Amino acid sequence: MHPDMKVELAGLVLRSPIMVASGVLGSSTGLIKRVSENPSVGAVVTKTVTYNPRNGYENPTAIDLGFGFLNAMGLPNPGYLDYKNELAELRDKIEIPLIVSIGPSNSEEASEMVKALNEVSDGFELNLSCPHTEKLGLEVGSDPEKVRRITASARKYTSKPLFIKVSPNVTSVVEIARAAVEAGADAITAINTLKSMAIDVNAMKPVLSNVYGGLSGRAIRPVGVRIVYELYETLRVPIVGCGGIYDWRDAVEFILAGASAIQVGSAIACSRSGLNIFGEIEKGIVEYLVAKGLSNIRGLVGLAHTS
Ligand code: FUM
Repeated sequence: MHPDMKVELAGLVLRSPIMVASGVLGSSTGLIKRVSENPSVGAVVTKTVTYNPRNGYENPTAIDLGFGFLNAMGLPNPGYLDYKNELAELRDKIEIPLIVSIGPSNSEEASEMVKALNEVSDGFELNLSCPHTEKLGLEVGSDPEKVRRITASARKYTSKPLFIKVSPNVTSVVEIARAAVEAGADAITAINTLKSMAIDVNAMKPVLSNVYGGLSGRAIRPVGVRIVYELYETLRVPIVGCGGIYDWRDAVEFILAGASAIQVGSAIACSRSGLNIFGEIEKGIVEYLVAKGLSNIRGLVGLAHTS
């Protein structure tokens, strides 16, 4: 029997637990549509939009370190009002949940953006974790009281699922996630990138134009798995695992740690099989479930916990 891969996530029904992480497809709605047609993709998260348009940083903005990517794009986006028009067109053309990632810098921005984008989204992921943008991301997401206020403001204006994407660059990710959940978040996405940098030894200068960036990819998977495990021990909301998922084993590891669904990001950028990566991950999970005698993906969530 083919195991059931459907997932119920904070009120959304996903045909597969594999989601596309925010950022990797850029703001291109054409690309989002194409990826959404892949039957192994359960949901797509957009590139983060902010209140005001942002040009992003100058090049170089990304480097491949071999064991992961270091990037500081600077959240380039057209601003939420312009993007709303593009999303409105896209919404009717795709058949899977479209989660809109927003990066508010305060409660007022959170409520305005959620109010405006509510009709063109199936849910929101609040990016309170980008590690290198002034007055955004981690600068607000490392303070539990700001997280509480921003989440509560977003909650006021939508009954759609609210995911909070948390950062590994804090003393206690559990404290941050708990503040979000107490303020009404439905689910936690863990994790965003690790604040990092690289130095060009010939030029004797930082490689990225912004100096600091975020590390993603293979190298950060153990950090992501540890954080999902910790969150699962303390929270009673679904967790979406993210960080260095390249194949079915990586995905299963996150699910065993407690993730109800997973997001693939960096691996898409360097996949040798292109968008087939989603089908390959799904096939591997299905074979694993069959080998373990499990009839559905839900039965796997959190199994690595001993109590
Ligand atoms: O630079 C960027 O656009 C990255 C965003 C993020 O890490 O959330």
